[in-house]
Amino acid sequence: MENRYALPPYKIKMIEPIHQTTHEEREKRLAEAGYNVFQLRSDDVFIDLLTDSGTGAMSHFQWGALMIGDESYAGSASYFRLEAVVKRITGYNYVMPAHQGRGAEQVVIPEMIAHHGMVFISNTHFDTTRAHVEIAGARAVDTAIDACFDTAHYHPFKGNFDLAKLEREILAHGRENVAGIIVTVTNNAVGGQPVSMENIRAVRAMAIKYGIKTVIDGARYAENAYFIKIREAGYRDVPIRTIAREMFDNADVLLMSSKKDGLVNIGGLIAIKDDAELFRRCQTRIVPMEGFPTYGGLAGRDMDALAVGLGEALEEDYLRYRIDEVRYLGDRLLAAGVPIQVPTGGHAVFVDCGKLCPQIPFDQFPALAVTNALYLEGGVRAVEIGSLLLGRNPDTGKNSRAELELMRLTIPRRTYTFQHLDYVADCLVAVANRAGALKGLTFTYESPVLRHFTSRFKPL
Ligand code: F0G
Repeated sequence: MENRYALPPYKIKMIEPIHQTTHEEREKRLAEAGYNVFQLRSDDVFIDLLTDSGTGAMSHFQWGALMIGDESYAGSASYFRLEAVVKRITGYNYVMPAHQGRGAEQVVIPEMIAHHGMVFISNTHFDTTRAHVEIAGARAVDTAIDACFDTAHYHPFKGNFDLAKLEREILAHGRENVAGIIVTVTNNAVGGQPVSMENIRAVRAMAIKYGIKTVIDGARYAENAYFIKIREAGYRDVPIRTIAREMFDNADVLLMSSKKDGLVNIGGLIAIKDDAELFRRCQTRIVPMEGFPTYGGLAGRDMDALAVGLGEALEEDYLRYRIDEVRYLGDRLLAAGVPIQVPTGGHAVFVDCGKLCPQIPFDQFPALAVTNALYLEGGVRAVEIGSLLLGRNPDTGKNSRAELELMRLTIPRRTYTFQHLDYVADCLVAVANRAGALKGLTFTYESPVLRHFTSRFKPL
């Protein structure tokens, strides 16, 4: 039988109870948390859509694999199983685990910076990637297409690079000053939006023309490959693994948070195609940062769970359902007139709170106001991705204004059902219907760095 949305290609073997709270309890908990959902205890959250990172469910194959983990400090058999899987997927020669994505970044990014005054250019750097570029003394430049900032505009590959912008930046900085081009797939910051193969190939051609290395930030590379399959001409009948391999063929280095498309709760990966010298330098740096190169901050059992998860995340039935459940939530919200980034991305629905709450100025954080209202409404935890996250301009000390004031409803993998998503949609529609009356927030304590995590607020 045909279904408008794919059915889950699994059944439930183990459950984790969740509890609803009363409105009164949520009022109290949110006030105690300083009106910052990062400060809530997860026990006080009913449906947690803060992130898709490390929050998914493992399969029974992965739980089984944990039992064969080899906890040897050096030369672990688990490492060699993981290495074989990563080599088969990427075609790259060199593989090292890391404790998570930012662990991989802190090892590789400084090793790619040859001298002072270099830049990395990306479609959009993820926050931790940007942070590691800056900590290493370089600058991070974003060159995403303008269409990604118009949430109502449909574009099948809203995560793409603007190739003219990319070339302008290369020429403006001088190619010898570009440390690398980072292709973030999918492009998390603009809505989990995919990058087309055509765009990846064009970026690669430009990188080769100017002699620059290409890095894939592949946290959600399998979801990106699936979007290429269903949206890009010529890929409909191509297997996901072949598409993924073509993506990797067009780069030199993979940095991956495997907490997403590795389907594990913790872990990261570094893979390098053929630069033996870069690999040797990373091997030296990883020891004091993450650990010996054959465990990189992971237990042997974590590496075995990852070796299995990487394969499961490339299964087409899984991906079809994964992308459809996110689309389902997006469709429910669109049907009720809630403004979201269209089309719906791979891992989350991004709600345009600038449009929902035009009465709230950017420095009173419209998306935080909606996030808090959603929690109060139904115990659903989302996350602000807007001017609060962006922070202050380091030179002027003024609040920077984000391009968009978004609230992200991030869907953990293999975790919630369509009924949960219906409930989330019902709660958000109720909030949206009174969004014009919501008030902004002001700081009672503003943390000096990464302020969205620990700052406290009061409603105005
Ligand atoms: N790159 C991308 C595109 C990411 O989305 C993340 C994490 C990282 C790198 C860093 O990986 O967390 O394993 O150190 N994103 C999470 C999120 C935290 O909620 O979007 P990590």
